[in-house]
Amino acid sequence: SQTVLKLNTGATIPAVGLGTWDSSDEEAYNSVIAALKTGYRHIDTAAMYRNEVPVGKAINESGVPRSEIFVTTKLWSTQHRNPEAALNASLERMGLDYVDLYLMHWPVALKTDAIKDGNFLTVPETFDGKRSVDLDDWDFVKTWELMQKLVQSGKVKAIGVSNFSINNLKDILKPELKFIVPAVNQIEIHPQLPQEELIEFCHSKGIVVEAYCPLGSSKSSLLSDPEISKIAEKYQAEPAQVLINWGIARGYCVLPKSSNPKRIESNFKTFTLSPEDTQAISAFHEKYGVHRYVDPNWGEFKAFV
Ligand code: A2P
Repeated sequence: SQTVLKLNTGATIPAVGLGTWDSSDEEAYNSVIAALKTGYRHIDTAAMYRNEVPVGKAINESGVPRSEIFVTTKLWSTQHRNPEAALNASLERMGLDYVDLYLMHWPVALKTDAIKDGNFLTVPETFDGKRSVDLDDWDFVKTWELMQKLVQSGKVKAIGVSNFSINNLKDILKPELKFIVPAVNQIEIHPQLPQEELIEFCHSKGIVVEAYCPLGSSKSSLLSDPEISKIAEKYQAEPAQVLINWGIARGYCVLPKSSNPKRIESNFKTFTLSPEDTQAISAFHEKYGVHRYVDPNWGEFKAFV
């Protein structure tokens, strides 16, 4: 039986979910199948990952009842004016009637003329003066207002946000707006970016936090770090397992991405990290520095101001 957390909707969400960012079609399909076989019941994708088709196909072909799987997808930044149309397109690509969670991918609305090569999911790699792709007469507060209506349609069980700072959250939580409190804020978290303050703020509002890049992505050396390895030995665990269970000990969901069936299986093993070890890993950044692995081209806008 695996650890679950409770959303502000009353629904439960498995603490470990499979991340699918950066997987090719074949990898995405195979990893979702492998994860569901291993026992994962939480799969995270996004329109922007461009793998909703294989992810949905794997969910439908896995033999695991749909009702047992917690599925998340996300609204891409060029579609803020019409979240309903974007959601319908995602559901169609996935071959699903509903998702358990629909997230605003970034608190940033981009012009549709930022679309490259006719593909609405692709914006230019290097923005020519980043502000020129912002949608001028729009902000994410309006997007959130529109997303609320999706809950009544039954096509999403819960709505949430991603890459939101404390200030971004405060903007949609203004009492006079009477908006739905996001069920989730999905953010980058790993020992080089422990996000103490933001996590504490979310928890104080009943918002479940989800960690992406929990292993520091493929670009970090966290997995070969001697200190992490030493803690891992103590628990007869792998370094990756320590990083994943550090998140669970801190009370949030963890979304490790892997396309390797052995690692998918090993990442699913949960155990209780002691408060001392949890604290030691939380202090890691003091020695090693704070580092973000997500491309600042995406995050630089208004996302973290
Ligand atoms: P792979 O897909 O080949 O397993 P993050 O979730 O932090 O973005 O990290 C994902 C990266 O970490 C991917 O490159 C993934 O590669 C790798 N990875 C995932 N699980 C493990 C593991 N248990 N041990 C080592 N590397 C892992």
